[in-house]
Amino acid sequence: MTKIYLGSDHGGYNFKQTVCEFLEEKKYEVEDLGCDSADSCDYPKFGKLVADKVVADQGSLGIVICGSGIGISIAANRVLGARAALANSVELAELGRQHNGANILALGARTQFMDDPLDIVEKFLNTEIDDSERHERRRAQLG
Ligand code: RB5
Repeated sequence: MTKIYLGSDHGGYNFKQTVCEFLEEKKYEVEDLGCDSADSCDYPKFGKLVADKVVADQGSLGIVICGSGIGISIAANRVLGARAALANSVELAELGRQHNGANILALGARTQFMDDPLDIVEKFLNTEIDDSERHERRRAQLG
């Protein structure tokens, strides 16, 4: 089973706990890298923590959550090899995996979702990267 690394700031803390329980029920191996409460903290630390783990652990995936999903996705994307896709719909989660080879899903816990966020998580984890030449070529240009 795919290993999943989770991280959030305070804005994403409650939803991270929900995602963690959801994934454990589905028998994923989950490592929660914090934060550990809804007390105010800084999202860059947790975006980097998750991205470093995902890059070091081949085949693993990450989920990062903050209020908007933007700050923590920017933080994760600064780590070489990390590709964080911010998705508020099942369609974007799927495309982020298929076309962009995203290895981290970013969610904005305080924003509007077009679909049930747990469906977004599930789609991300269950979608394979599209290995057609045009997508491989474009991903290679991302570095
Ligand atoms: C925290 O207040 C908020 O700024 C943070 O969760 C996130 O939305 C940043 O991008």
